[in-house]
Order: sequence, then structure tokens, then C-alpha cells
Amino acid sequence: MKLIHTVTDLRAALAGARDTAFVPTMGNLHAGHVSLVEMAREHGHPVVASLFVNPLQFGAGEDFERYPRTLDADCEKLAAAGCDLAFAPSVAEIYPAPQTFTIRVPDSLANDLCGAFRPGHFEGVATVVLKLFNLVQPRVAVFGKKDYQQLHVIRHLARQFNLPIGILGGETLREADGLAMSSRNGYLTPVERAQAPQLHRELAALDAALQAGDKDYDALAARARRHLNMAGWRVDYIAVRDAATLATPAIDSTRLVVLGAAWLGSTRLIDNVQFDLN
Ligand code: PAF
Repeated sequence: MKLIHTVTDLRAALAGARDTAFVPTMGNLHAGHVSLVEMAREHGHPVVASLFVNPLQFGAGEDFERYPRTLDADCEKLAAAGCDLAFAPSVAEIYPAPQTFTIRVPDSLANDLCGAFRPGHFEGVATVVLKLFNLVQPRVAVFGKKDYQQLHVIRHLARQFNLPIGILGGETLREADGLAMSSRNGYLTPVERAQAPQLHRELAALDAALQAGDKDYDALAARARRHLNMAGWRVDYIAVRDAATLATPAIDSTRLVVLGAAWLGSTRLIDNVQFDLN
């Protein structure tokens, strides 16, 4: 596997490539990322993974500085997964000048769910993803479904800007106790780590109630929120949404997603459960 740090070298390495499969990441890779690379391998060649902690998508006081940078270990994992090219640019390489042109994400998405708690986050994500797409020019790109709202934003970005890129969603990988794999799990203390699977358990219990025919979305979400708050979490949101539009579901919606974001100490975890009632 080739490790590349500059845009010039990236363009040279990809000259003439027409079938590139791309996995954008912020590094600190885990098995979930590896599964995205494996999925990318089934859909194109060469496989390119980017490793870039994007300052534009972090708000003031968020974890940009402490986000783990583990390039050597990441490259080993990518090489073992069959990645052909790792692109690990510096901030100056991606933003040689202040990024004054950005993607404005519609308010209905930018200020909803995670966006309501992370102002500017999806604008930063959409902007860097469009830049990375322009640099790599992939035919397909793979994103994890754990970041469900992010995947939704990127699908819209690709559609609305007529990008000739297939956007694929990779399934969330979980630890044996149900905790969704995430780079941020590494922030958890041992006590928090033992408690962390409760977020998934609450979403799964809500999902089971919906599947059993309960349609009182607000009451179900409030109950999950109450359970988490009582156990010491600080809940940003628990919500039931239409899986395709992310809008509040109509009473006869059958494709639903239950999403949640909550803090354990200084760590913010997100998760979701998707299902089809048909
Ligand atoms: O999901 C992530 O790791 C990041 O948000 C992404 C898509 C790589 C953009 O920085």
C-alpha cells in the first residue's frame, strides 16, 4: 500500500484511474472502518482511504485536538484490509487558504438531530467530503451507517451536485456487548465503557416496541431518554424518524430509524437502529 501526503502525489498516483473506490475516514481505525474498506474492494479498484481529522467539522470546545492520531497503526490495518492507497494530508494541504466557500446544508438537516447540538458540523463534513471527492474522483464512496445523518447529508450532496459517485452505506459493527464501534469509545473510562452499551439497549428496546405495534414515538423516545438520564447519561436526543427522509414519520411509515446521541462523562456517543416494518 502506498502512503501519500500531498495532493500532487495523490493526483499522480490516481492519474487515469476510472473505477476508484473511496473510504473517507478521520483515522484511528477500528474493525468498522476495515469492513468499509473490504466493502470498497468489492466495488472498485484502486481502493483509496483518506485519514484526515477535519478541523472544519469540529465546534469550539469539541475534541479536535484530542482526537487520536494513530497513522502507523492505521496504515497497518489498511494494508491488511487490501487498501491500495492511504491519503493522509496535513491541514495545510487540504486548507492552504481559509475555506471561505463552504457547502450550506439545508436548515432541516443542519439544525436537526446531531446538527442541533453541533452547529456547523454538517457544513464542515459536506465541505471536506466534496473537496476529497474532487481530489480522489472516485466512482463509489463508502460511509458507515453508524453516522446515519451524515450518510443522509452526503447522499443529498452527491444528488444535488450531480456527482457521478455511488454512495454506499456500510453496516455498523458492534462489540460483543452491543456497543457500536467508534473511535470515540477509546475516550471512555473502564466504568463508562461498562455502561456504554446501554445506549444501544435503549434504542433496541424502542425498536422492539415499534415492531410490536406501538406508534407513540414521542412517549417511547421520552422513556428511553428517562432511562438514560436516570443512569447518569446526558442525552442530546433520542428520536424516531423515517429512515429514507429523516423526517418525523407519518403514522403509517414502515421504514423507520431510531437515532440517539448521549454523553457519558466527556464522551459523546451516537448510535441508531434501522428497520422495515414490512
Ligand atoms: O465520518 C467521518 O469520519 C468524517 O466525518 C468524514 C466523513 C471522514 C469527513 O471528515
